[in-house]
Amino acid sequence: MYSLWKRFVKKDASSDVASRIQHIKKSNVPQHIAIIMDGNGRWAKKRALPRVAGHHEGMKTVRKITKISNELGIKTLTVYAFSTENWKRPKSEVDFLMKLPQEFLGTFLPELIAENVRVEMMGDLSLIPSHTQKAVKQAMEDTKNNDGMILNFALNYGSRGEIVTAVNSIIHDSKNGIIKEDVSEEMVSSYLMTKHLPDPDLLIRTSGEKRLSNFMLWQSAYTELWFTDVLWPDFSGEHLLQAVEEYQKRSRRFGGV
Ligand code: FPP
Repeated sequence: MYSLWKRFVKKDASSDVASRIQHIKKSNVPQHIAIIMDGNGRWAKKRALPRVAGHHEGMKTVRKITKISNELGIKTLTVYAFSTENWKRPKSEVDFLMKLPQEFLGTFLPELIAENVRVEMMGDLSLIPSHTQKAVKQAMEDTKNNDGMILNFALNYGSRGEIVTAVNSIIHDSKNGIIKEDVSEEMVSSYLMTKHLPDPDLLIRTSGEKRLSNFMLWQSAYTELWFTDVLWPDFSGEHLLQAVEEYQKRSRRFGGV
């Protein structure tokens, strides 16, 4: 009886998400959602599992949320998979995290291709293991002609480093006469790794932490922030819809009235 009830509730929850996607106001969905996927370690600890089990479960959540974001009509989903500060973690955890893009793309790339998703990445690829580089570059190549949602992995990414690199490139280009005008906000934006993307409209951070942790600092000047106590492996389509519905209720004034 209990298992029958559980099955009913489960089925009902997923069909509820599907019907809510249908009813969401499509003219005002965020064009770009950025996510700080936090809480994998605590999810594992609660279950007496090694931390890496949380990362593995978190990888499956990325797939689930990519699919629902695409169905919602979101144009870009940026996920913070590894920061420049994450190298400070134990080597075994770093090694595991570096294998995840390969596993994720090895498992889900055919589905992403079928759904017209384009895989991109931002971050310093040169410092990550060659097997990870190879998997990401191959996925980018295989999906480069897809014109649906962009799934943008922030991998070995840090926002301050990104800004410093941009400033140095601007100085270099000024000295060499490539740039003749004064530095402007548009110019700085055009030297960032996100130069081809709109700024995020909505930034989600899971697990109850309320900080940006060196993620898209320039780009999120006017981004709506949404925090939840839910740990990333438990984050579901239902939570994403809650965030989008809350976003749709906000009045974005960009400093105006
Ligand atoms: C933060 O949780 C999470 C990370 C540093 C890694 C995020 C990576 C994934 C979700 C895997 C997805 C990767 C791919 C390539 C699809 P935490 O470990 O700091 O959690 P804690 O604060 O509870 O310890």
